[in-house]
Amino acid sequence: MKGWTAIFALLACLCVIFDCLGGGEASGQETKPSGEREQSTSATHQPDRIQEVIDKVERICLDEAVPMVGRVKAVRLAELVREHKPRLIVECGTAIGYSTLWMAQELKQLGCGKIISIEILPERVERAREFLRQAGLEEFAEVRLGDARELVKQIEGPVDFLFLDCGYQNYYPCLAGIKDRLAPGAVVVADNVGIGERGMRDYLEFVRKHYKSRTEWFDVTLPWVARDAMEISVVPEK
Ligand SMILES: C[S@@+](CC[C@H](N)C(=O)[O-])C[C@H]1O[C@@H](n2cnc3c(N)ncnc32)[C@H](O)[C@@H]1O
Repeated sequence: MKGWTAIFALLACLCVIFDCLGGGEASGQETKPSGEREQSTSATHQPDRIQEVIDKVERICLDEAVPMVGRVKAVRLAELVREHKPRLIVECGTAIGYSTLWMAQELKQLGCGKIISIEILPERVERAREFLRQAGLEEFAEVRLGDARELVKQIEGPVDFLFLDCGYQNYYPCLAGIKDRLAPGAVVVADNVGIGERGMRDYLEFVRKHYKSRTEWFDVTLPWVARDAMEISVVPEK
């Protein structure tokens, strides 16, 4: 009898832990401040197929420890895209396409615009392309293979939105390679400003001096980080 009681107690504990981790929700892995919870819910109203692929890619990233922005910040990123309606988004650091899917989903909702996303690892490029295909978003996102610090120089402007997520020390070189083609009012978002500040000092100094820039903090319970920030900078209108 004692043995059964112990087993039931253990199962109950596991259920609580699972629940605390958000295991029953598609969003799963991150606690959200109330405002973000609302945005996340609205994302579920978007076409099921896209959301299913996003959920799948999120699970793969967690299972295989593939770096990704995580749901809380992805929702914010999508909101920024919705708000600014960029015609051209450039993303440096695709990984397997998690953030790309979130932004492309918004472009599809808007009915226009395109993302050029750059990734240096060929295997990740292939996977990102495949997930975009599965989500039916190829029309809105192109993944290019190569070093973002170089490839950004080939992108014709105007660029309305830039997302930097490709190694802290690469942020400034990527920005330097494209800043002349950023449209007035363009939004530049840099991830991992909380945990990576020291590695991107040159970048932060530049955007805080030349652009209208703010740091937004997020509670994220990704396995590798609990709290982090994004720097959101806006290129001045001329
Ligand atoms: C944090 S992950 C990107 C996550 C992705 N934005 C997401 O949220 O799903 C960073 C990616 O940048 C790539 N990377 C690193 N240096 C790069 C470079 N110089 N050019 C392009 N990609 C690079 C890495 O291979 C890695 O896949």
